Amino acid sequence: MKRKVTKAIFPVAGQGTRFLPATKSVPKEIMTLVDRPLIQYAIDEARAAGIEDFIFVTSRGKSALEDYFDHAPDLESSLRDAGKTNLLEVLQDTNMDSGAIAYIRQHKPLGLGHAVSCARKLIGDEPFAVILPDDVIAAEKPCLKQMVEAYQETGGSMVATMEVSPEQTSSYGVLDVSNQDGAISSVKAMVEKPPQGTAPSNLAVIGRYILSPKVLQNFSKINRGAGGEFQLTDAIAHELTVGREVFGYRFDGQRFDCGSKAGFLQATVAFALARPDLREEFAAFLTQLSAQKQAAQ
Ligand code: G1P
Repeated sequence: MKRKVTKAIFPVAGQGTRFLPATKSVPKEIMTLVDRPLIQYAIDEARAAGIEDFIFVTSRGKSALEDYFDHAPDLESSLRDAGKTNLLEVLQDTNMDSGAIAYIRQHKPLGLGHAVSCARKLIGDEPFAVILPDDVIAAEKPCLKQMVEAYQETGGSMVATMEVSPEQTSSYGVLDVSNQDGAISSVKAMVEKPPQGTAPSNLAVIGRYILSPKVLQNFSKINRGAGGEFQLTDAIAHELTVGREVFGYRFDGQRFDCGSKAGFLQATVAFALARPDLREEFAAFLTQLSAQKQAAQ
């Protein structure tokens, strides 16, 4: 029996410049898909996978995130007084236990690997998950839960993966794998943002990881990598050089790149269409809109 995975790191220190001016005063992770902030989807997925300790790696200007996770007793009591029990439940569903969340500051923007390493003292000697909230994954069984189950078979370290087109590989961590067994493959090598035409495959790393605590020790052994930053991919790849196993996990589900405007909009449409209270009206609007567009062409 492998150890339970109860801790997750959420790297949220990025400035979200691709969404300026919105992100001038609102952290990107608070931007909403339908009516839930991006970060709420990540938290819900983590909870469904059995995560109990939530570690946010933040930076200057992200205090709205901390406020979001505070309880709102005044709001709760006014909803209760007004008999708005549905809304009260929605609100209470977002409440986190006191002590379940920790915030760590990444003082310099030195990359994803560096951000994760900032949480090392809170992780200690346990396997842990990393969730990148920009990657929103719609799935019947939440992606991290799928991975936690697979991890019980494999141990080691595991990264979520999916195929992307060859032109896109330079935007991702990319895997070289052998021994594909169903959803699980054995990783031979991994490279962060390989230059166009040099990727070992088109299997990209997606922002869900279950990592051995040993990965945290690798940060002292790696150099700055792609983009001049300390890369998580490089720290994981170091495991392979010392003979420890890393696995790729092809999750079931649809991933949206909410770090890009197009991906964010696609997620908004998909999540709105999945909502029973919005589906009908919104689908009718989209049909009408596309008919108008076609007529105008
Ligand atoms: C990060 C990781 C990369 C991974 C990607 C998935 O890159 O460094 O390995 O493929 O997330 O979204 P970023 O998109 O932060 O540049």
